[in-house]
Amino acid sequence: MKPLLREIWKSDRRSFLVILLWNIGVSILGGIGIVMLIPLLNMLQIGDNRLPAWFTALGYPLRVGLLLGTYVLLVTVKALLSRSLAIRQNHFLEETGLRIRGKLYQAVSGASWESLIARKDSELINLFTAQCGQVSYGIAEVIYLLASLVTAAIQLGIALMMSLPVTALVCATGVCMLAVFRPLRKKSREYGEEMIGISRAFHEELQNQLASVKEVRAYGVEQEHAALYEKISASFQTARMRYVRQSTVPGVVYAVAAALLIAGIYLVSTLGLRVETDRLVVLVYVFARLWPLFSSFQGQIQEINSTVPAYEKLKETLSELCPESKAAQTAADFSGWQEAAFDSVHFAYRDSEAETLQGMSFSLWRGEILALLGRNGAGKTTAVNLLLGFLLPKSGAIRVDGQALTAANIRAWRRQVGYVPQDPLILNASVRENLTRFHPGATEEEVICALKAAMAWSFVSHLPQGLDTPLGDRGIRLSGGERQRLVLARVLLGKPSLIVLDEATTALDYESETAFHQVIQRMHGQAAVVLIAHRLSTVRMADRALVVEGGVVAEQGTVGELANKKGGYLAGMVGVE
Ligand SMILES: Nc1ncnc2c1ncn2[C@@H]1O[C@H](COP(=O)(O)OP(=O)(O)OP(=O)(O)O)[C@@H](O)[C@H]1O
Ligand SMILES: [Mg+2]
Repeated sequence: MKPLLREIWKSDRRSFLVILLWNIGVSILGGIGIVMLIPLLNMLQIGDNRLPAWFTALGYPLRVGLLLGTYVLLVTVKALLSRSLAIRQNHFLEETGLRIRGKLYQAVSGASWESLIARKDSELINLFTAQCGQVSYGIAEVIYLLASLVTAAIQLGIALMMSLPVTALVCATGVCMLAVFRPLRKKSREYGEEMIGISRAFHEELQNQLASVKEVRAYGVEQEHAALYEKISASFQTARMRYVRQSTVPGVVYAVAAALLIAGIYLVSTLGLRVETDRLVVLVYVFARLWPLFSSFQGQIQEINSTVPAYEKLKETLSELCPESKAAQTAADFSGWQEAAFDSVHFAYRDSEAETLQGMSFSLWRGEILALLGRNGAGKTTAVNLLLGFLLPKSGAIRVDGQALTAANIRAWRRQVGYVPQDPLILNASVRENLTRFHPGATEEEVICALKAAMAWSFVSHLPQGLDTPLGDRGIRLSGGERQRLVLARVLLGKPSLIVLDEATTALDYESETAFHQVIQRMHGQAAVVLIAHRLSTVRMADRALVVEGGVVAEQGTVGELANKKGGYLAGMVGVE
């Protein structure tokens, strides 16, 4: 519970204190309402007549009118205050939820590429939905618990005024019972941890299954997949039911104890302590309200404890997502760049011991088309990720016109770069949005121009709603080649001076590829183009080629030179094709 309290205190202590004060006010008004029952009962000749002289001096109708009028007024004011408190409380809780999700969003969107790729999408989605929801729920329960504590304290005060021994007896029993059920509260925490595990597994499985609908049918394993889904899905129910069975035990014990206590109070106060009847009625009334509070403390603490693991998981993720360096951006301008060079670049992924790049050196000149060749896993995509500044070298440097790329100038450099990744991204949005989300200032004319340049206009103009046609999840309504052309249009819209194409033409048909070559040739001279290619037809477009092997540049030269090099990689490719 403490970590959640600390979170509330750190985030908005002012609103929190106001809510607490408001709660005290509402509870005091409720308390006065209860105390007022004494004179009312008195006037019904229940209990001893010990009312102040000025009050008894008033006529009967006036007395009743005054008492009942005050009572109704009190209840009305209390009801209005309670409503206002409920609004304040909910506003506070919504704000806290927003803040927590906002913090997570900022951590994710500002995280370094390396710390992000180490996480699964399903894990992050689970954090945003299930875990954040749990934390908000936990914080709400903390506030409700504190509110019930305030109410309990005030009702306890009233009970103390009525009878010290009886109140002491009830409190002692209540505290003993809270102590007895301590282990159950600890178990709630374990339940919270178990639920996080199940929820993660569920999201992961769901994402896997949604992504593999086609393959599942193709392999005919629908039943096996359904069984997997049902197993994880049912584990929610099993865990929840176990928790409910455990956590409802105290409720039964508290209810029985309450009946025994009320019977005891009745006997003790009528036989031994001689509490007056009016006070006895109020005492029983107070305990009938006080006791459920004790019982609800147990339940509330259990619920809060079950949300603590979600909070801890959230904190852990926030600390593990290293932010991309916030180094003050220097006023670098790379728009006129001429040469980008890898200077003995070493790089190792976080969770692997071996270096993926082991001292890579090469130069790239503006205006040339450079092909990167090499076997699968040689390090081509990694090299490109470094060139784009997603990853930073462990040692060595990438220099643009002699100036090393660092966290301080990387954003300026990225503005020069257009990138078509190996697995092109199509958003579940319209064609237009798929382009303008990444270039917010682009006009419709520019969008169409880029689509034409990427040979995408021919199919976009035939879509039912043209630019505004929704493309579905991952661009499901486009063919593979159409997707590649759309992503190329997105890149061209930014008018980059360096274009990196990671096997971006693999799905293009013969005609499109020829036209694509023309687009690339048009860029020739103005921008540098880096092509990662496994096909000879793509490599032929290049002026120069590099062969990457084991994280270093093993061969380099013009395409013609490499194609004729005996035993060379490109010569092997020519031989095969
Ligand atoms: N996120 C990652 N974490 C750990 N290792 C990685 C990661 N991404 C790539 N690697 C490893 O780095 C090596 C180089 O991968 P890279 O993607 O750069 O190869 P590539 O040359 O582009 O291959 P391909 O032709 O198959 O696309 C591989 O051994 C790969 O397993
Ligand atoms: Mg690759």
